[in-house]
Amino acid sequence: MFKKGQEWYREEEIADSYDDSRFTGGGKVLDFREKEMLLSLVDPKDKNILDIASGTGRFAELLSNEGARVIGLDASKEMLMHNKVECVQGDALNLPFKDKSFDVTTSMRFFHLLETEDIEDFITEVERVTSEKFVFETLHPFSLRLTYQWMLPQDSSLYSNSLLKKKFDDISVVKKANYHEKFIIPYGIYQILPYDIGKSLNRFDERFSEKQGWLTSTVYWELHF
Ligand SMILES: C[S@@+](CC[C@H](N)C(=O)[O-])C[C@H]1O[C@@H](n2cnc3c(N)ncnc32)[C@H](O)[C@@H]1O
Repeated sequence: MFKKGQEWYREEEIADSYDDSRFTGGGKVLDFREKEMLLSLVDPKDKNILDIASGTGRFAELLSNEGARVIGLDASKEMLMHNKVECVQGDALNLPFKDKSFDVTTSMRFFHLLETEDIEDFITEVERVTSEKFVFETLHPFSLRLTYQWMLPQDSSLYSNSLLKKKFDDISVVKKANYHEKFIIPYGIYQILPYDIGKSLNRFDERFSEKQGWLTSTVYWELHF
């Protein structure tokens, strides 16, 4: 369960180079847009927020700077060494918090590390500790990510929106599930581009991913409890 994702991010050199290898050059555009997207879905002011799979804390720090009280949870202490908010090392499937400790839970770039058979347990566990909503992102299978997915060293599960919508509809604690599709150009491509090219490509990407759903690689979900 989660073995591949957990093992990969426990490598010290992977954790130490996580931010630099992804969010410099064209990756800066990605970082900016992901943060902008999260803030459009979460109003952090005065909220208690749990950030699951918080990693080096990109989103935890953002939410904290925007006025939330944030706890970051991650399985890898090597990733958490870089995280500047209050953190707990732990497993997403067994959260070490009391019922309804948080208003909102977030989890970015994590769902693809989940095994399909763990989805229901994971959502139920998140709902146990969360009173309002859960915001997270998933990766879509019918996208340009398929051009390089096979080369990646760690395993990823790509889920279609229809499969997930059906799953969430069947989980009784979920009252409503909304999603927003973004990024025709997938993360891995932005990361290898120079900043200026990434910026220009992003203008095209924003315009077209708003207009049509197919080919988008990233999906942002809000589950209301
Ligand atoms: C791609 S990183 C995302 C980090 C951060 N959310 C971001 O977007 O920059 C995935 C994170 O999931 C964590 N992770 C993997 N399996 C986990 C589990 N079962 N419980 C908690 N964290 C886990 C890894 O340690 C890693 O830090």
